[in-house]
Amino acid sequence: MEFFVDTASIAEIRTAQSWGILDGVTTNPTHVAKEGRDHKALIQEICAICPGPVSVETTVADAEGMVREGEAFATWAPNVVVKVPVTPDGIRALRALRAQGIRCNVTLVFSLPQALVAAKAGAAYVSPFVGRLDDNGQDGIQLVRDICAAYRNYGFETRVLAASLRHPVHVVHAALAGAHVATMPFKVMEQLFSHPLTAIGLEKFLADARALQAALETRRARV
Ligand code: E4P
Repeated sequence: MEFFVDTASIAEIRTAQSWGILDGVTTNPTHVAKEGRDHKALIQEICAICPGPVSVETTVADAEGMVREGEAFATWAPNVVVKVPVTPDGIRALRALRAQGIRCNVTLVFSLPQALVAAKAGAAYVSPFVGRLDDNGQDGIQLVRDICAAYRNYGFETRVLAASLRHPVHVVHAALAGAHVATMPFKVMEQLFSHPLTAIGLEKFLADARALQAALETRRARV
């Protein structure tokens, strides 16, 4: 399973990249707005830090506008993936961008029919929004499972990118459901490392190592 971080924060991306487990980045207009910087400069900095796919979302609703934006985004860095919504305009834009060899991530996916449309259109990635479905009283992980099963039935090459993940259990369930990629907030990626028994165990091992070191130094000093 690949891990993407869902943020436009340079500090978060740098830290996640330093861990050596970061495969890509997903941004959206909300993340970008939070940074308060020029879109192009921000994305180019992100793409330089993380060599994996970096999703950059279009900011208009019409197909022609999305194609124009997508073409421009694709010149910003070679690892840019253009994110388009699963609307008729978004899918039309995807077809035009794909014809130029530009990879697209179909976003705001909340149902299996939408995921089938994305795969048929040749999306590189499809992004089912797990947390937002859960918030709506539906089972987000079940959607991921269903998309993976349907794609397997027909050999679709679109990669299932579980998005809107809110906690480590979402990541685990997305992995068990067969998602190719999990994109998660930085905080969730950080949480993947932690377990109280790891912290307790490490403290004890370090204390024992320090005690041994002190004992050896005392012994050496006596000789
Ligand atoms: C994915 O590409 C989206 O940017 C993101 O996962 C949305 O997450 P949210 O529902 O927590 O805003």
